[in-house]
Amino acid sequence: MSRLQVVSGKGGTGKTTVAAALALALATEGKRTLLVEVEGRQGIAQLFETEALPYEERKIAVAPGGGEVYALAIDAERALLDYLQMFYKLGSAGRALKKLGAIDFATTIAPGVRDVLLTGKACEAVRRREKHGGFCYDHVVMDAPPTGRITRFLNVNDEVAGLAKIGPIHHQAQAVMRVLKSPETAVHLVTLLEEMPVQETADGIAELREAGLPVGGVVVNMVRPHVLDEDAVRAARGDHRDGIAKALASAGVGGSARLVGPLLEQAAEHAQRVELEREQREALAKLQVPTYELPFLGEGADIAGLYRLARELRKLGVGA
Ligand SMILES: Nc1ncnc2c1ncn2[C@@H]1O[C@H](COP(=O)(O)OP(=O)(O)OP(=O)(O)O)[C@@H](O)[C@H]1O
Ligand SMILES: [Mg+2]
Repeated sequence: MSRLQVVSGKGGTGKTTVAAALALALATEGKRTLLVEVEGRQGIAQLFETEALPYEERKIAVAPGGGEVYALAIDAERALLDYLQMFYKLGSAGRALKKLGAIDFATTIAPGVRDVLLTGKACEAVRRREKHGGFCYDHVVMDAPPTGRITRFLNVNDEVAGLAKIGPIHHQAQAVMRVLKSPETAVHLVTLLEEMPVQETADGIAELREAGLPVGGVVVNMVRPHVLDEDAVRAARGDHRDGIAKALASAGVGGSARLVGPLLEQAAEHAQRVELEREQREALAKLQVPTYELPFLGEGADIAGLYRLARELRKLGVGA
């Protein structure tokens, strides 16, 4: 079972929502999970309707059965101070560096350094143990950068290990890559049943595989139920307008013919969507990864909706 679940996907497809629901799902039955965010956007706080998260692990939700979800918005600047403290015991010197602007340089000017710090912090949480030896968190779920950046983001420590050939930074970078490339990690991609995100998912999976990163599953989000059965869909595709108008007229309800046109148009649109979705499902099946479908929440993805998505993910066995 993977202990680090990374959730990526095309922008706006529901990465943050799915990551939060997955953290809840994995926390059921007394487990403890950590939900981490790396893009400094406070998406988790918004979702759980709490104030902005500090750089500190905080309990934000209780899962069914008594599990706990903690959250952490990883801040690159603070992570750099941790990192310096860890390797060079630079407590107050770190603060001096910050005054000099060296940390701004490292965290904003050199984006690679930023990613080293973010992935490093997440892996530290995965590996962290309690005094008696058990893991602090049963699972860590990362609300990760989008598909276009995910491979580079996760692989950045490979580059670092190559640059620093020996010494503590080399060891740290190698330790991070050991976690990220092991079966302990699963990278999931969120998509919609639409052409663009499905194509992006296919490209993303190919890239992850090439880089030797462990692909988990594809989460198909916001799936709407079909309101017509197969026969009705087939019928809705044809043009039966005249026939139907005649039949209505002969049944003595010819006056309602004006309604028929728009209704048939709607049915045809629905049939078209069903057809497009079938094509996208076929494209996803070719990727040979497990796919999991989550429903579109009509009332929006509020906290009640999150618990509902968590139940679905649990039923589907995602991450288990
Ligand atoms: N299953 C769902 N049903 C209905 N609405 C959803 C569902 N999942 C997500 N949403 C809504 O879709 C929007 C985008 O979701 P979310 O913020 O999780 O996406 P994201 O991929 O993290 O976006 P970004 O790329 O901006 O980080 C939000 O308004 C969210 O409430
Ligand atoms: Mg997001």
